[in-house]
Amino acid sequence: MKKNIVVAIDGPSAAGKSTIAKLVAKKEGFIYIDTGAMYRSVACYCRMQNVDLNDEKAVADCLKDIRIQLTQDNKVFLNDEDVTEKIRTDEVSRGSSIVSQYEAIRKFLVDSQREMAATGNVILDGRDIGTVVLPDADLKIYQIASVETRALRRYKENIERGLEADLDTIKKEIEERDYQDMNRTISPLKKADDAIVVDTSQLSLDEVVEVVLKLISKVKEG
Ligand code: DC
Repeated sequence: MKKNIVVAIDGPSAAGKSTIAKLVAKKEGFIYIDTGAMYRSVACYCRMQNVDLNDEKAVADCLKDIRIQLTQDNKVFLNDEDVTEKIRTDEVSRGSSIVSQYEAIRKFLVDSQREMAATGNVILDGRDIGTVVLPDADLKIYQIASVETRALRRYKENIERGLEADLDTIKKEIEERDYQDMNRTISPLKKADDAIVVDTSQLSLDEVVEVVLKLISKVKEG
């Protein structure tokens, strides 16, 4: 039987990974796994329970009470509550960057991501998919864009969603998260040696999708 295809997209925050992964998944009929949403859900749960995110043990203790489901219409459920919108606030973004540094959290979520990835043709986006979660992925993409481009995209997204937005603050927060994600001890964000760099700064969404689809068709050709 033909082996399932595994596509890994890693890169810094707000580089457009999830937008591209969703579009490609839809075109190819692949399962999309948003691993960032899982770290966000942990942070969101801790916030709802008033758990101090800087208290590693207290955060790890929450894991036994956390059940995360990602649906194929791209909704995120935390213990049966739809948290799709709730996990996108700037506060949860900051929190997810903190909890993603903790070993117990990473182990719990990585195990679950590997299980999900074994269920069919999949595309996952995150920070450590090609380096740690699925180092044997068939296609690894390292998607980047300049800080300015990423801040502007996030700013427009926030405005569209009716959220408060200040471009300078967003840029500063992106830089802080880049630093935190790239410099943590466990599974820091870095390009896998065999990943293909896709710089989206000067490309439209359609152009990036086309690049990824071409790369997938090469994988299919073998
Ligand atoms: O992709 P995102 O912005 O939704 O990710 C939220 C946070 O989770 C981000 O700060 C880094 C962390 N993360 C991670 O450490 N590993 C992943 N595979 C995905 C996200």
